[in-house]
Amino acid sequence: MQVIDQKYKIQGINLTDLAGKYGTPLYVYDGEKIQSQVTALKEAFSTVKMRIKYATKALSNINILKVIKDSGVGVDAVSIEEIKLCLHVGFEPKDIMYTPNCVSFGEIQEAVSLGVMVNIDNIPMLEHFGNEYGDSVPICIRLNPHILAGGNAKISVGHIDSKFGISILQLKHVLRVVDAYNLNVIGLHVHTGSDILDAEVFLKGAEILFEAAREFKKLQFLDFGGGFKVGYKQGDITTNIKELGEKVSLAFREFCEEYGKELEIWFEPGKFLVSECGILLVKANVIKSTPATTFVGVDSGLNHLLRPMMYDAYHDVVNVSRVEGPDRVYTIVGYICETDTIAADRRLKEIKEGDIIAIKNAGAYGFSMASNYNSRLRPAEVLLLNGKDHLIRKRETFDDILRNQELANW
Ligand code: LLP
Repeated sequence: MQVIDQKYKIQGINLTDLAGKYGTPLYVYDGEKIQSQVTALKEAFSTVKMRIKYATKALSNINILKVIKDSGVGVDAVSIEEIKLCLHVGFEPKDIMYTPNCVSFGEIQEAVSLGVMVNIDNIPMLEHFGNEYGDSVPICIRLNPHILAGGNAKISVGHIDSKFGISILQLKHVLRVVDAYNLNVIGLHVHTGSDILDAEVFLKGAEILFEAAREFKKLQFLDFGGGFKVGYKQGDITTNIKELGEKVSLAFREFCEEYGKELEIWFEPGKFLVSECGILLVKANVIKSTPATTFVGVDSGLNHLLRPMMYDAYHDVVNVSRVEGPDRVYTIVGYICETDTIAADRRLKEIKEGDIIAIKNAGAYGFSMASNYNSRLRPAEVLLLNGKDHLIRKRETFDDILRNQELANW
């Protein structure tokens, strides 16, 4: 987002024009930003065989998946529906990794029948898999390394209290099951959480994974999950992807030498690829002063962007209707009947009724976590590519709210 000729623009397209053309609230994605993030990640790991498996759940519009696919990236899916979306877009089954948790064995069988590799996250499922398929279907195993990663406990998932993965302390048990069924384990996986700043956390995870990997003879890849931290506000420290690439690649190459085979290293970034590409454009409905502050009530809320309320996540906001003029201090809130503060105590260009506010970093876990709470419609989505805007999801209508509801007779 840049100011050019006194207007806020992305790829030369004026954001207030987009709000006028498609209405608000509106999700807007910069396709070129996704492409440049892919390139940055590939460059950081250019000395090893690195594969990217985009975390579909972050933003699953089929057009975004197509941008991802066209940039030579695979996907990680966490539900059978995400697998079907990716197949629909044209991903080959071999480019899809399925990392479910707490699903029925039936769903795992369906994934196998679609030709997709399964990342197994509990021992009963491993046994189930052995009984059904023996060594005929290659698998990955998700280990929980017991690392508390990142600053936000709500999105740290590799610690001892987490439901995810098989505890590293159960490795002996895993090996017994693998032996008994002669399971074809070609990959090991760890994902320690989201917003991980530090290369050291990845290296700590890597050490644990290497230790476990020594016990498996047929590995083809090690998967380090996602979690790279992106900038949410000016001056934020973010994962230094170049430094991470150098450090992790070095450790990985050393391990491969010891293992006696050049393995692939996989990552499953969600936020890194799509967080900064997205903004949510909303309209100021009301400017309301109370004894404590000045609220700006906008035509959106926790139904469209849950992150500030669910994780206390910070999202930068900008009044894109005004480039000049005095600043004032505001708290931006939604129109939902809950306390849905989007941004508290922000210094912004003076806001007038009808002004368009951009909420930044809305690409990852924005639309994909949106709901119809308060019977509100979900926003439209627009993709900017090659300097053109493309409507990639229509705004919902009242019919969508009624869809699947039956007025019963009694
Ligand atoms: N791989 C696995 C197995 C995951 O569970 C996740 C995220 C990722 C990769 C991608 O992580 P990322 O690179 O996006 O940090 N909704 C939350 C984050 C929860 C993510 C769940 N799993 C948020 O908005 O911060």
